[in-house]
Amino acid sequence: MTTIGFIGSGRIGGTLARLAVDAGHDVVLSNNSGPDSLRDLVAALGPRARAATPDEAATAGEIVVVTIPIRAYRQIPAAALRGKTVIDTLNYDPARQGHVAEIDAAGTPAELLLQRHLTGSHVVKAFSTVFFAHLATLGRPAGAADRSALPIAGDDADAKKAVTALIDSLGYDAYDAGPLAESRRFAPGTPAQLAHLDPDGMFAAPGRPVSPERLATLLESWNTGVERRLVETLYRAIGGEPDLLDDVLAPDWEDIPSIPGQPLGPAGMKPHIADFHRAFADARVIIHDIVAVPGMVAVRGALAGTLRAEFLGVPPNNRYDEITIHEFHQIENGRIRRSWHLEDLHGWKSRNAL
Ligand SMILES: NC(=O)c1ccc[n+]([C@@H]2O[C@H](COP(=O)([O-])OP(=O)(O)OC[C@H]3O[C@@H](n4cnc5c(N)ncnc54)[C@H](OP(=O)(O)O)[C@@H]3O)[C@@H](O)[C@H]2O)c1
Repeated sequence: MTTIGFIGSGRIGGTLARLAVDAGHDVVLSNNSGPDSLRDLVAALGPRARAATPDEAATAGEIVVVTIPIRAYRQIPAAALRGKTVIDTLNYDPARQGHVAEIDAAGTPAELLLQRHLTGSHVVKAFSTVFFAHLATLGRPAGAADRSALPIAGDDADAKKAVTALIDSLGYDAYDAGPLAESRRFAPGTPAQLAHLDPDGMFAAPGRPVSPERLATLLESWNTGVERRLVETLYRAIGGEPDLLDDVLAPDWEDIPSIPGQPLGPAGMKPHIADFHRAFADARVIIHDIVAVPGMVAVRGALAGTLRAEFLGVPPNNRYDEITIHEFHQIENGRIRRSWHLEDLHGWKSRNAL
């Protein structure tokens, strides 16, 4: 059994501590507010847990998990971590967590930030791809058919071996994605980053298991993140933020099929979004699957909502329903240039026939 130090004991730290204690490890927790603030968490975790300062947690841990907002990375005690295996869960998401000048200036890739601060430590990126509520629920015994794989990356083979053993004890398979720099293949915006989202693309627990084979495929397509983001933003636009269309559609975007007289570009799409929202309360888009290759994105999903006004001849009935959609989007020069779309209007109309 291993003593695991935690620098950061929030959603990911607290979840990992729970899994570790359940697996028989000892945990030493720390945060920014001081050990007293961790009293309830330690009591809930039981006798294998204790609270400490970050320096003490770093010293006590055979493996130390750093799981704080990335902007605070300079406060991680480098001296106490020298020679140790350090797990780095940090994601760079400036919109939600604030900017880090070193990363924005393009000098330091986000994947390497912590390792460059902890020059004497062996940093292994892990647990950065899984939403904490899914991490809590998707663990399975070794050999279970629905056991999930989690990607890891690091430059030191022994450190990766130790982290692999730890991950195994917590109910997951570690999938070695290579040296630390290769963690860019599972950074925010890549397909592997939130692979455990449920089949509706939602964060609701328990999430969905990810086999090593599926993870391998997602890691392969890491550089299609830009394409995916464009298409995800398109669906946010349809879901109620139509001005986002101006960011993602090419000015000469073609809607195929289009209605006679429909203008090219965002102007051709905005009236459709308005019609959708006029007819359906809580109108939204559900994405079941996105498959991206360079230049092309395929989507399986649904338009969803409660019919409150006449739509395509169907009178309002206050029923919730989903219209299945299958779409292909062609990407050129960082914008969606053409979209081929097919809505199952026939199925929807027959379900809603009077
Ligand atoms: N949430 C997720 O599902 C998820 C998934 C994958 C990766 N991540 C990444 O994992 C990291 C942690 O995320 P989280 O959601 O667990 O965050 P969180 O719930 O906000 O918890 C952050 C923890 O870090 C502590 N902390 C902040 N500054 C510190 C400092 N200078 N020294 C020591 N501890 C400090 C906080 O202490 P106080 O409470 O005292 O402020 C808190 O315990 C982030 O980098 C995030 O990008 C999160």
